[in-house]
Amino acid sequence: MKKFLDLGNQPLANSYLKKKELNKKEKKFRLEVGFNPENYLVSILNTVTKEKMFNKNYPYKSSESTTMRSEFKKLAKKLKKKFKPKLSLEIGSNDGAFIKNFNQKEIIGVEPCKNLAIITKKKGYKTYAEYWNVKLAKKIISNQKIDLVYSANTLSHIKNISEIFRAINLSLNDKGVLVLEDPSLLECMKNLAYDQFYCEHIYVFSTLSLKKILDPIGLEIFDIEQLKTHGGSNRYYIKKKKNFNFKISSRVKFNINKEKKFGLHKIGAYKNFATKVKKSKIKLEKIFSNLIKKNKKIIGYGATAKSCTVLNYCNIDYKKIKFFYDTTSFKIGNYLPGSKIEIKEYKKLDNNDVDYVFLGAWNFKEEIFKKEKSFIRKGGKFFTHVPFPHVI
Ligand code: TYD
Repeated sequence: MKKFLDLGNQPLANSYLKKKELNKKEKKFRLEVGFNPENYLVSILNTVTKEKMFNKNYPYKSSESTTMRSEFKKLAKKLKKKFKPKLSLEIGSNDGAFIKNFNQKEIIGVEPCKNLAIITKKKGYKTYAEYWNVKLAKKIISNQKIDLVYSANTLSHIKNISEIFRAINLSLNDKGVLVLEDPSLLECMKNLAYDQFYCEHIYVFSTLSLKKILDPIGLEIFDIEQLKTHGGSNRYYIKKKKNFNFKISSRVKFNINKEKKFGLHKIGAYKNFATKVKKSKIKLEKIFSNLIKKNKKIIGYGATAKSCTVLNYCNIDYKKIKFFYDTTSFKIGNYLPGSKIEIKEYKKLDNNDVDYVFLGAWNFKEEIFKKEKSFIRKGGKFFTHVPFPHVI
């Protein structure tokens, strides 16, 4: 593993602080990122145990986002039509935003965060409140194998990635399909979105790295769709190699070529990325110091897990950003880890209170700009670090 990026000491991204915890010492870990030249995997080097991140207090609920709810609904319809699965399984079923689009008998959830698993259990969905691995796969398929495995923004959070895919291979019918969705490394690098790296994102996948990992297990990618979610994601369609029912789409080769052109199989591209990230930090710090010198009122918008990395790496705290607006109920009234910036319930931006807005949720830029048209028209400004620090 070759280390190429050091993002400093970071708290756990989803460990929002309560007011009474503000003076408590936070647990920190060193956020370093490396590249494995053998299987092209990019991963963080010092991982936090799964029990510390994914437990009964996990705060993120997919159903709180209207965008996610409607995307899952559309996707479930599409997958049912395309693959006609009799039995499906979701790894990382969260609070059921995807599985609720299926009949209770047609889908199984796997969700180790017990506070979330209980929600789908109560709605009558068979849900295993356990971490996904070979042992669990064997238990689940003792009756029937799976036709469709779906997993979004979950597998990249699991350290033992090879076992994860072995367990999926084991649970799939020979004609079964795995649909996997995760942020794209190519988009992350192109956008200089180094905030894709935080404790939960152990890996950021490329097509190249997935191909290397899937191959010895007997799995292969047969199609890829590019998505806008999370600042650019890929949806990979994966089958057993011995299944010739689906032909391999030209999009697979197309993506691999694009990634190779960018150099995702060589350390040079990553060193280059790291140099640009260091410059990006200096530039963002400069934007903040200029605005503060001019006495501008700065707030944040969208207290994302991603912004935790940026804020802590670039030394931005409650002295620089007055507060963050966010629509998510569990975040409101709490404080961002490390930077200790308060999160307030979202209100439409008012030019009398705010001059500049740091866009934590840059991946929802279009949606947010539409909402804040009047603020922008009256001279209010947004700024972000993606794809380089600038006032928009
Ligand atoms: P998300 O994209 O899930 O990022 P991460 O995985 O890095 O946490 O989070 C988006 C956040 O932005 C979420 O907390 C909700 C917030 N948000 C708003 O407050 N207002 C909005 O209009 C939008 C689109 C998002």
